[in-house]
Amino acid sequence: MSPAAGLAPGDWVAADDGLTGRLVLDLDAGQALAGWSLGDWRQLGTGVLVETVQAGPVHYPDRAVLRPAGPEGIAELMALRFGSGGGIEAAGLDRAGAEAIRRLLDRRACRRFRDEAVPEGLLRLVLGTGLAAPSKSDLQQADIVWVRDPAIRADVTRGCGDWLEAAPATVEILVICGDGRRLAALHAGEAEPWANDHFDALFNATGDAAILLCQLLTAAAMAGLGACPVSVMRNRAEAISDALGLPDRVFPFAGLALGWPAEPRAPISPRLGPSGALHVDRFDTEGQAAAIAAYDARRGPVAQSPAWSEAKRRQYATAQRTGWGEFLRGKGFRMD
Ligand SMILES: Cc1cc2nc3c(=O)[nH]c(=O)nc-3n(C[C@H](O)[C@H](O)[C@H](O)COP(=O)(O)O)c2cc1C
Repeated sequence: MSPAAGLAPGDWVAADDGLTGRLVLDLDAGQALAGWSLGDWRQLGTGVLVETVQAGPVHYPDRAVLRPAGPEGIAELMALRFGSGGGIEAAGLDRAGAEAIRRLLDRRACRRFRDEAVPEGLLRLVLGTGLAAPSKSDLQQADIVWVRDPAIRADVTRGCGDWLEAAPATVEILVICGDGRRLAALHAGEAEPWANDHFDALFNATGDAAILLCQLLTAAAMAGLGACPVSVMRNRAEAISDALGLPDRVFPFAGLALGWPAEPRAPISPRLGPSGALHVDRFDTEGQAAAIAAYDARRGPVAQSPAWSEAKRRQYATAQRTGWGEFLRGKGFRMD
């Protein structure tokens, strides 16, 4: 039996040549990972196609050189994000753990989708997994609005970028909301007064919404779906709130587009990582300039765009969402 027996599209594999990646096409069995088209690669003939971390898609005519990946690929994925593996030790992970870590490190914002519906049961699984996210004091201050009506969808996605406005109708649109209402409402007419109508109420609901968004992104990555948060939606906060019927103390934190990713996916977006954002014992401000300079140098050629610091300076040289505080006050939140 070949070492690759039982491998199927979606599995991570390690090859004898040292490359690691996801098996995306099995040309012999006529199977493809969602997002990959057998027709596009038919000229390869037989064998399998692996989307390697190190070298992009690689054709292996003989699958006997492949084996299920253990911790392989994790150090390479860390290096793509951070420039180096950063002293990690992945060898002790079991196969499922290694697979989960790889999928998280391999996640990237997806703004190009295939026109293929996400089965409703799978979507509900992703939504449920998101809603199982941790919640500050179990207060459960975040909600999802699943936008299904085409007219409402057109309204909430307006001005969010061509990639979203022109996305196939099969791309699901969710709006993740912070919810300070449910908790306040529990006190209505009860003996215990609500004694926490201050900034903490907004802060906690924002935190829960961010955690919910993150868990949805994680669940989507585990399910092989592509996703991209859309906080530019907040530029039209009043309109979004009206379109979705958001009551007082409920605000849109971010949209989320979810669907099957089109291939090729966007490259992995490098991050500042441990050299700039991991501090030990005491916050290190002195190392920041050097860490950012090194990050700029590493990231520039990868993303083929201005250095990160330059790009962010330009982006935030223009005022954005100056009415956001007023919007939240209008929703009933206090800032003091
Ligand atoms: C809260 C939040 C809001 C975001 N809003 C937008 C958005 O409005 N439009 C967009 O194209 N991407 C948006 N993104 C995606 C980020 O641009 C993306 O995560 C970032 O560039 C890093 O890339 P990566 O996710 O591929 O690692 C958002 C991400 C987060 C976490």
